[in-house]
Amino acid sequence: MNLDIPFVRSQFPAFSEPSLEGWAFFENAGGSYPCRQVIDLLMEFYTKNTVQPYYAYPASTKAGEMMDASYAKMAAYLNVDASEIHFGPSTTQNVYVLANAMRPMWKEGDEIIVSCQDHEANAGAWRRLGERGMKVIEWHVNADTGMLSVEDLKSLFTDRTKMVAFPHCSNVIGFINPVKEVSRLAHQYNALCVVDGVGWAPHGFPDLVDLEVDIYLFSSYKTFGPHLGVMYVRDELMGKLENQSHFFKAGVKRNMITPAGPDHAQIGAIGGVLDYFDMVHEHHVKDDASPRERNKVLNSLFRNHEKALLEKLLEFLNSRDDVRIVGPDSSKDRAPIVSIIPKKKSIEEVYKTLTQHKLMLGTGDFYAVRPLMDMNIPTDPGVLRMSFVHYTNADEIEQLIGGLKEAL
Ligand SMILES: Cc1ncc(COP(=O)(O)O)c(C=O)c1O
Repeated sequence: MNLDIPFVRSQFPAFSEPSLEGWAFFENAGGSYPCRQVIDLLMEFYTKNTVQPYYAYPASTKAGEMMDASYAKMAAYLNVDASEIHFGPSTTQNVYVLANAMRPMWKEGDEIIVSCQDHEANAGAWRRLGERGMKVIEWHVNADTGMLSVEDLKSLFTDRTKMVAFPHCSNVIGFINPVKEVSRLAHQYNALCVVDGVGWAPHGFPDLVDLEVDIYLFSSYKTFGPHLGVMYVRDELMGKLENQSHFFKAGVKRNMITPAGPDHAQIGAIGGVLDYFDMVHEHHVKDDASPRERNKVLNSLFRNHEKALLEKLLEFLNSRDDVRIVGPDSSKDRAPIVSIIPKKKSIEEVYKTLTQHKLMLGTGDFYAVRPLMDMNIPTDPGVLRMSFVHYTNADEIEQLIGGLKEAL
């Protein structure tokens, strides 16, 4: 079964927006187009329910119901409990709060392992704990390939290791790390496994029980939704975290690690992502599978489609001697996030030509400064990144390849 791309694209208003016509979007790792279901819910919330939620008057009760529905739908798709889901303003802020909430769990001189493949969101806040008595151990990437090695990681554990933080998939390297393997390894040392899923979640929501992680984070503005950070924290861990909110919120799971007042409308609307997933599932498979099973089907529909397009792009890039692919050059265990460095022209020059071909993409370090530093790639100009998701079609890949042929 193949993903019905015209159906999928009909769920995204951006594809029928006249001002975007002809433009092919390849900066999805920076933020995806939102689906219609999210936009509708946001509009509904702002129009009818922008009042303090959870009071007895109808507009308020409905606001609370919409928010609760989002927690429940998100949890069901990720195969966890709704009380384990937290919506914060962004992944960067969620990690920052988590690092502060977790610090009191550990003693002076305890160790945390942090990867050098991360976006700074899952890097800086942990490293800063080095100034607060923790020993920070860096898990470096291979300087040529940008890959993290589990063998390298094994040598970093000690009996004082408390946590390992790393990305499910880096936003510049694109490789899908073996999360479950790392998680099991961490647990052998009684260490927690914290995964930045921002790079991966746009390509398929994970089954978090299956991944065996303790904490998983992603950003819904990159998964067809509103601008929120989604954070899963395993239930047993919640009781050990220090309250980061008002003193009277201690022990209140929904508030204690999201200290700022949440954006009610966006929380009400984020459930639209799962409504969209339901609709895509229903369109392809007419059964009443559980959200977890639906998610599995969607994962494989999305992956097969994305992988076929990725292979076309990589085949083209591999045929050229004027470009370096950063990260692995095959589609195996690789997400459609492809960073390149032109060898004969400047990034700026190449980028200019691509824009003339109506290609929307990005250049720079993408806040993945540490991986680029580990690979000795100057952060300025950094890399040129092309990233796509399941709504991208074969014509857009052709447009990209056509543009690259002229630009490189
Ligand atoms: C891999 C990765 N992690 C974390 C982040 C930060 O997410 P947020 O903007 O929600 O803080 C990004 C944003 O680009 C990212 O690509």
